[in-house]
Amino acid sequence: MTDAAAVRPPERVAAVEAYGLRRSFVQGGESVEVLDIAALCIPSGAIYGLAGPSGCGKTTLLHLCAGLLPPSAGELRVLGTELPLLPQHARDRFRARHVGYVFQRFNLIPAVSAIENVLLPMGFANVLPVAQRRERAETLLRRVGLGHRLHHRPAALSHGEQQRVGIARALANRPALLLADEPTASLEAGRSDAVLELLIEVASEAGAALLIASHDARVLGRLEHVLQMPVFNGVAPAPS
Ligand SMILES: Nc1ncnc2c1ncn2[C@@H]1O[C@H](COP(=O)(O)OP(=O)(O)OP(=O)(O)O)[C@@H](O)[C@H]1O
Ligand SMILES: [Mg+2]
Repeated sequence: MTDAAAVRPPERVAAVEAYGLRRSFVQGGESVEVLDIAALCIPSGAIYGLAGPSGCGKTTLLHLCAGLLPPSAGELRVLGTELPLLPQHARDRFRARHVGYVFQRFNLIPAVSAIENVLLPMGFANVLPVAQRRERAETLLRRVGLGHRLHHRPAALSHGEQQRVGIARALANRPALLLADEPTASLEAGRSDAVLELLIEVASEAGAALLIASHDARVLGRLEHVLQMPVFNGVAPAPS
């Protein structure tokens, strides 16, 4: 099998395309199906919300789209690549190069500074010339309002600042797909609006598709397209 991570995804393929996508987990000795999506299409460069009650499978779907979790069944193409068919190392490489993930709990590396946290995925993906990486990391951190916090470790940053380092890190390798899991869950209203604006702005500037899982009615109310789970979980949605 060729290493699909070495190939830039074609420009206009759908960001995410899935058919008969299922995922189950073993819980208490029984297999429980948590996701059953008949069809899903998120166009390239589109901005979508992902809504639904706790436990309906939002994080599971984001993990599938990032190749962090394999589906139990079904087809899943991410930026034109059948992610579940890639071997693990190629999936990891594909994610590093093409997918940005904003984790709900930031998942920053505590032992290194903000700028090192942004540089790490650049080293792993190895797409940008080494000489350009530090400048890009600084630019991204300035872009999220952290030009004055480049050398602070995560523990020395506020919640909102850590969230913004996570956003800068997710953008490090110019992803064509940006996945954000409850990016505003622990922020107050004013901060939540700013983080949402920032995500939309940076995704739009880069032409990246953006999928935001959220419980927050304020966030979902700002988005033109919202996939409502589990209503569309098992029923074909009608993406526009
Ligand atoms: N590794 C796992 N093992 C067993 N069950 C799991 C695992 N991961 C998720 N689940 C189950 O799958 C279901 C969906 O979980 P998921 O985290 O995707 O929900 P969610 O919609 O993101 O919820 P929340 O809004 O609370 O973040 C839950 O019932 C959860 O318990
Ligand atoms: Mg979740």
